[in-house]
Amino acid sequence: MQAMREDIDRVLFTQEDLEKRIAEMGAQITEDYKDCDDLVVVSVLRGAAIFMGDLVRHIDRPLEMDYMAISSYGNGTKSSGVVRIQKDLSSTIKDRHVIVCEDILDSGLTLQYLIRNLQSREPASIDIALLLRKNTPEQANLKCRYIGFEVPDEFIVGYGMDYAEKYRNLPYIGVLKREVYE
Ligand code: PRP
Repeated sequence: MQAMREDIDRVLFTQEDLEKRIAEMGAQITEDYKDCDDLVVVSVLRGAAIFMGDLVRHIDRPLEMDYMAISSYGNGTKSSGVVRIQKDLSSTIKDRHVIVCEDILDSGLTLQYLIRNLQSREPASIDIALLLRKNTPEQANLKCRYIGFEVPDEFIVGYGMDYAEKYRNLPYIGVLKREVYE
């Protein structure tokens, strides 16, 4: 995957780092949900789709996969917290156990909105499996049960995360060079 490497300032997590950490997260979820046979794993499109695809293959429980697409009204680089659902879940989550997969928490506003929305549907429980938590000032206070890594407050791409829809297919996670987006 050399085509986009020159746009990357530095690699934060290699493919091997990601595989190892996500396997650990999946093993922890498998243990925590060992008595649960009615699990719905929800991914927020599009960034979290790759993470979810890898994580569920390390969760040794019966589960349903479902997807939501939401758009945030913002200035393009920052969330505003005002969110519109573009694609809703296909399944009903009432009285079921839900795990929401997100790729990255920045302001936390997107996930905060989403969790409130899902809570109103009266699931039995909701946990968050988060791959990256950004070290952002004034982040919404959200309890994430599973967190992959902490990352600096920089422009992160790869492994599902984009800049202008590019770089999602990088198998690693890196920091984008400033000159690419400035
Ligand atoms: C990214 C990411 C989260 C959100 C985090 O999505 O996937 O959903 O931003 O930001 P926040 O914590 O400040 O709300 P984005 O809007 O870039 O859409 P995408 O998943 O389609 O890339």
